[in-house]
Amino acid sequence: MIGQAKIYVAGHRGMVGSAICRTLQAQGQGNIITRTHAELDLTNQAAVQTFFAQEKPEQVYLAAAKVGGIHANNTYPADFIYQNLMIQANVIEAAFQNGVKKLLFLGSSCIYPRLAEQPMREDALLSGTLEPTNEPYAIAKIAGIKLCESYNRQYGQSHGVDYRSVMPTNLYGPGDNYHPENSHVIPALIRRFHEAKVNGAPSVAIWGSGTPKREFLYVDDMAAACVHVMNLPKPTYDQHTSPMLSHINLGSGSDLAIAEVAQKIAQTVGYTGQIEFDTSKPDGAPRKLMESSRLNALGWQAKVDLQHGLTKAYANFLSQVEI
Ligand SMILES: NC(=O)c1ccc[n+]([C@@H]2O[C@H](COP(=O)([O-])OP(=O)(O)OC[C@H]3O[C@@H](n4cnc5c(N)ncnc54)[C@H](OP(=O)(O)O)[C@@H]3O)[C@@H](O)[C@H]2O)c1
Repeated sequence: MIGQAKIYVAGHRGMVGSAICRTLQAQGQGNIITRTHAELDLTNQAAVQTFFAQEKPEQVYLAAAKVGGIHANNTYPADFIYQNLMIQANVIEAAFQNGVKKLLFLGSSCIYPRLAEQPMREDALLSGTLEPTNEPYAIAKIAGIKLCESYNRQYGQSHGVDYRSVMPTNLYGPGDNYHPENSHVIPALIRRFHEAKVNGAPSVAIWGSGTPKREFLYVDDMAAACVHVMNLPKPTYDQHTSPMLSHINLGSGSDLAIAEVAQKIAQTVGYTGQIEFDTSKPDGAPRKLMESSRLNALGWQAKVDLQHGLTKAYANFLSQVEI
């Protein structure tokens, strides 16, 4: 039982933040506060301080971030590093200044080195060179983890500060971006197979060989994991982490080939044409899988299997997108 702590969810209109709000509400939490980007620009230090001083939240889920694909990261690297550093530093410092004891920071798997051993363990952090295309974003996210750890180390004993970090794998589900050009694998394929079905297209071509393996987690599962990690008793969390290696991977624990994902999506959408693989296009990394045993040892496992999640994701797509 979570009780009625006053909880600020930063980024509540995003895919992750909205799922965290849904989960908290489903668990009976009625005291959630939110601000849109237009109401509160989290890069504005003074505005963030004023908001925390007025609202005095007891817990914070930090799911606001400047997020984008390869193209956006490559084109606007200054925006990605500056805005994310500012959002994190402002929120974490204002939380501390205003007595927030519990905060959960959201990062992602891009914090790990480009050639990290698979599956990627938490201790792969800072063990090698990052993927250059999103290095500025990743550096900001790593700084977010280190901000949480540093506040814990300096103010944990004296002020009861307990700031935690989670790194989710690839997510899909409600709130996803179904843009035809710059969306992730699952939403992109949902759209393409749906359009092919509607238009009676005989085949759908997919970039690459279809052999690279990827891991996916349904977004509401991720949100449940976030709430679980936030509410773990401190001795339990401390037992499975260390002061300077405290982040927790959030993964489903298994990966599958893009070709298999494509087949499952085609089936879910009801597309019966051919699936072709355009091997002239690049494949990307052969495998990207989070090692989630730390999360599992903390008592949480993914519950929504991919087939079930895809069915829900497609229903969400149909409810949102006008074709
Ligand atoms: N989606 C995934 O597959 C995935 C996977 C792993 C980790 N994550 C992590 O989860 C976090 C959230 O991702 P998401 O997918 O939910 O992103 P999203 O859908 O783009 O949502 C981000 C939210 O942050 C808000 N925001 C951005 N800049 C802001 C600012 N300066 N002031 C106030 N609000 C601001 C956005 O508001 P506006 O839209 O109004 O700007 C939006 O509501 C990120 O840290 C990301 O790395 C996501």
